[in-house]
Amino acid sequence: MKTNEITQLNEEFANATPEALLGYFLDRYGSRIALSSSLSIEDQVLTDMICRLKPDARIFTLDTGRLFPETYNLINQTAMHYGIRLEVFFPDCTEVEKLVADCGINGFYESLEKRKRCCRIRKLDPLERALRGLDAWICGLRREQSVTRSEMRAVEWDEAHGLLKINPLIDWHEEQVWEYIRRNHVPYNKLHEQGFPSIGCQPCTRAVKPGEDIRAGRWWWESPDHKECGLHLRK
Ligand code: ADX
Ligand code: SF4
Repeated sequence: MKTNEITQLNEEFANATPEALLGYFLDRYGSRIALSSSLSIEDQVLTDMICRLKPDARIFTLDTGRLFPETYNLINQTAMHYGIRLEVFFPDCTEVEKLVADCGINGFYESLEKRKRCCRIRKLDPLERALRGLDAWICGLRREQSVTRSEMRAVEWDEAHGLLKINPLIDWHEEQVWEYIRRNHVPYNKLHEQGFPSIGCQPCTRAVKPGEDIRAGRWWWESPDHKECGLHLRK
């Protein structure tokens, strides 16, 4: 898609609801678009919207092998609640074995390089497989989540992965997400009630104190400007 078409779509949908944006792209791309869900509150809202608009739309999740038990429970609960099947992508076992042999089972705490290697093997490589054959992927990013996300738009060309990226909740505030969840009885991760606003892998996520930044518990030992696993890096 050309840059001017993307600009035009962002203008056209500037005041539209996330459902209108989703509906447009789900119709346009059919089986060549998918939601990438980490089971976050944002992704659960998108799952709910998608199940109303097009229940057979593709939804996948990347199981790094290091998720919280609560997240595995939510994968199951979500599938049952909506009567859908979430596609689960796993890392390559030979790559994981090499990683653990070289760096140790929790090597990601030792250096940025080791942490990035773990994220590459457990998340980025599986993401590349999940995106194969797609024209667009849908993500639950919100602009206010992080300094690294403040410039993002609802419709973007994802240069790093070579396809369109749709962020229907980009303008939403956290309170709007919770309001939707409560109103529509959307299943959510029970860890949110224990001080975890943003949830990734278990060893790389901790609870935050009241008033702390929502991503303060993610890779808490690193500085805020490289707290991204690489899924959303822009070239
Ligand atoms: S991360 O880059 O820091 O891990 P974050 O947890 O904020 O990302 O999630 C942002 C969006 O990235 C999610 O809404 C989802 O679209 C996608 N995402 C993150 N982790 C996963 C995952 N494990 N499986 C599928 N999609 C994911
Ligand atoms: Fe590995 Fe942590 Fe990245 Fe998960 S978040 S893939 S455990 S470094």
